[in-house]
Amino acid sequence: MILDQIIGFFSSDMSIDLGTANTLVLVKGRGIIINEPSVVAIQSDKTGKQRILAVGQEAKNMLGKTPGSIQAIRPMKDGVIADFDMTEKMIRYFIEKAHKRKSFLRPRIIICVPYGLTQVERKAVRESAMSAGAREVFLIEEPMAAAIGADLPVREPKGSLVIDIGGGTTEIGVVSLGGLVISKSIRTAGDKIDMAIVDYVKKKYNLLIGERAGEEIKIEIGSAIALEEPLSAIVKGRDQVSGLLSRIELSSEDVRDATKEPIKEIADALKDVLEIMPPDLAGDIVENGIVLTGGGALIRGFDKYLSDLVKLPVFVAEEPLLAVAKGTGRALEEIELLQHLANE
Ligand SMILES: Nc1ncnc2c1ncn2[C@@H]1O[C@H](COP(=O)(O)OP(=O)(O)OP(=O)(O)O)[C@@H](O)[C@H]1O
Ligand SMILES: [Mg+2]
Repeated sequence: MILDQIIGFFSSDMSIDLGTANTLVLVKGRGIIINEPSVVAIQSDKTGKQRILAVGQEAKNMLGKTPGSIQAIRPMKDGVIADFDMTEKMIRYFIEKAHKRKSFLRPRIIICVPYGLTQVERKAVRESAMSAGAREVFLIEEPMAAAIGADLPVREPKGSLVIDIGGGTTEIGVVSLGGLVISKSIRTAGDKIDMAIVDYVKKKYNLLIGERAGEEIKIEIGSAIALEEPLSAIVKGRDQVSGLLSRIELSSEDVRDATKEPIKEIADALKDVLEIMPPDLAGDIVENGIVLTGGGALIRGFDKYLSDLVKLPVFVAEEPLLAVAKGTGRALEEIELLQHLANE
């Protein structure tokens, strides 16, 4: 035990929020040192051999803009590992970048994975980290990390409800006494909202735009409720009828209309969780409300939209994009919690 503590003191233990949209790495004592999109760009040579060109932001900038021999991929799309090999390479890249001979001891690593990952996927994540040089690997589930990161009283005998709206998945969890009492994960989150904008613009304006443009529009003017002062943004793409490149102006009302389906799916998942809530925990939620984390929590008025619907107070966590990474990092500080996680 004492030896463990001494080793822990010298090694640069780290935690990773392995998200489908963004990966964040936090090193003990140094804070979040990597915050980059979960994207890998690869180039194939004539023999079909693949070489990594870029990972992270640089690779994301290539999405949808690559020539034939280069591919920019999101290996963890939709909350599942779509490409095991690339996920492994990405995890290894981020670990090596964070570790960089800062310490000669191999780090202990705690990784936050989407709740819905299968045993096979979890094993793949664990093995990737081990082969990238980890001494020990622990996994923590996303609703738990989100609740810790949002400063909810997770250890107390009191129910806390957190909704993490990420890129690939929305995860809803009720936490009490350090464990997940209820949880639900759906594959509707930021990516589906982006796609809904792409589809709407195509249908209503005959304009073909890319997923990245859809995401930019969502961030610029997306909202879950009618805004007092409507916003607008220009979107560029290719006209389906004339084939010419053109631009149109979209209003926040357009975008609200476009995204109401996926937004409603998230609300319905919350209602499902509330319906199966044990009465004693329900009392805690009525008293303390619901906390939103993940990038999707930044959609304008999402908190008010949900609050009006379920008649409970809803709050957005401070820095919702960082909540899971901070929660995973805090779990790293608490050895006894880690030991509890190791057996899962
Ligand atoms: N200001 C913003 N307004 C609306 N959406 C935003 C904003 N900033 C980021 N997002 C969205 O948040 C999503 C990414 O959030 P986050 O980093 O929490 O996901 P993730 O953890 O990678 O995914 P997951 O938890 O599903 O594995 C993306 O869909 C992105 O478009
Ligand atoms: Mg996440």
